[in-house]
Amino acid sequence: MGKSLENPPETGNKPAAAPLLAWYDRHARVLPWRARKGERADPYAVWLSEIMLQQTTVATVGPYFTRFLARWPTVAALAAAPVEEVMKEWAGLGYYSRARNLHACARVVAAEHGGKFPENVEDLSKLPGIGPYTAAAIAAIAFGRPATVVDGNVERVVARLFALRNPLPQVKPEIRKKAATLTPLKRAGDFAQAMMDLGATICTPKSPACNRCPLENLCDARAEGIAALLPARAPKKERPVRRGACFWLTRGDEVWLRRRPEKGLLGGMMEVPGSPWDSREAEGAKPGLEHAPLEADWKRVPGKVEHTFTHFHLELDVFTATTRKKSVPGGEWVPLDRLAGEALPTVMRKVAAHAMPDAGPLFAKR
Ligand code: ADE
Repeated sequence: MGKSLENPPETGNKPAAAPLLAWYDRHARVLPWRARKGERADPYAVWLSEIMLQQTTVATVGPYFTRFLARWPTVAALAAAPVEEVMKEWAGLGYYSRARNLHACARVVAAEHGGKFPENVEDLSKLPGIGPYTAAAIAAIAFGRPATVVDGNVERVVARLFALRNPLPQVKPEIRKKAATLTPLKRAGDFAQAMMDLGATICTPKSPACNRCPLENLCDARAEGIAALLPARAPKKERPVRRGACFWLTRGDEVWLRRRPEKGLLGGMMEVPGSPWDSREAEGAKPGLEHAPLEADWKRVPGKVEHTFTHFHLELDVFTATTRKKSVPGGEWVPLDRLAGEALPTVMRKVAAHAMPDAGPLFAKR
């Protein structure tokens, strides 16, 4: 049953696998989660890397992956960790529901699968945080199953190889179908990663290096001279701007932080208190001191903090004050020299740097 989502033998008329695998044998990028030649990849490492690599670049993921693996070398170790510790290690990587699902998934694998990841797409897809892309990636890379893995790089390679002219995102199902015809029965994991590497290093978005491409002779877009124009993209909608105020409250060398609700944007991460992030466009919709957590001699820090999320751009005014009050409800005092280890998302790291411009590198660790 598990195999139903995997592919039939190569049925397309483009024999891409052999030249691509030969190229990969010589040019594969050396990445910390990859098995060395002839070795089997560790499914735990493959899963961890694939979750981290969703929406995040290889360069950003590298140090996080290494730290996670050093601290929690097995899925059982990760399952046994408190979720707050996992959120702290994840801080700065973004899309924080991934971290929560990562931990939930580790617990399910440890408790219900004896610490071993399932090997097929269907069973992998039942685990928290594992969608079709990640299930296919793990099945192929960790277990050699002939599953087709389509990420952004692969989409570009396939759109060009078959000169698919319809724009993204509508063209995705067509890309997926064509991609499935390329996947070989053997070395499907290497093939998937070879497609990714080709997209990242040769079949790049703006100026593809077609003359160095192992698939040059098979590529329809190359033959038609339109490789750099594909894939076409429907025009992007502009991101709306939201505004807010936030409050950097210190007491000696501690700062007051609270935890965001578990559900929603930055769920479960720490923050300084602040207003809701307001999307009303009108002037005068700019939140201010009325949202302060207590009365104090608040001073606005000149300038503002800006951060772009997937669906909006945020502008924050930052106010600072000190207090002698020991008890402020709804949060906790955190020593400034422990900030780097807190589950502070990037936008809050920017707030800290803005509030304390003279403090030096607060978050050098990441
Ligand atoms: N992006 C997502 N998964 C990847 C992998 N295994 N290798 C390189 N880039 C990737």
